[in-house]
Amino acid sequence: MTQEKNGNKIAVYPGSFDPITNGHVDLIKRGMNIFDEIIVLVAYNPNKSYLFTVEERMEMIREVFSDTKGVKIDSHSGLLVDYLKISGTSIIMRGMRALSDFEYEFQMALMNRRQTRSIETVFLMSGFKWFYTSSRLIKEVVSLGGSVRGLVPDNVNQKLMDKFNIKNSKE
Ligand code: PNS
Repeated sequence: MTQEKNGNKIAVYPGSFDPITNGHVDLIKRGMNIFDEIIVLVAYNPNKSYLFTVEERMEMIREVFSDTKGVKIDSHSGLLVDYLKISGTSIIMRGMRALSDFEYEFQMALMNRRQTRSIETVFLMSGFKWFYTSSRLIKEVVSLGGSVRGLVPDNVNQKLMDKFNIKNSKE
């Protein structure tokens, strides 16, 4: 594996994180057993429209990892490969849930490597508990008055309820 920046292994974990879920949190924590530093990158996916602003998404992630050394948070609105170039990194970390993620992830990994040959994408399997968790479903459930407690960090749960003007989530 590529050693970067003073021998530290650094991975960039890009995503929409709209919002961050416990599935993402689990992946970052497990990634920290492999990498010395993980940059959680709030990146722009032109195929999505977002509920939370970039700043709101970054703030929620910052709150979750405020005590975790080695986890950095950043944002980028252009091509991912350009961010890697600017930051001097070459490893992308992504999570893989069910088989349905595979084609999308495979395409992105190959497209990124086509643009910059030295880039490697490392996949971690999603934790079993989080196989069915997605930011999209979480927003849908909360918007219709359901509870996602336990699927997202507590601060995120609160921000979701605030966004949808929900006073108390159903248990
Ligand atoms: O959480 P998501 O929405 O699945 O993450 C997708 C993301 C943001 C990683 C992807 O859309 C991305 O890399 N966006 C940056 C723009 C870019 O480089 N697009 C080409 C990807 S091959």
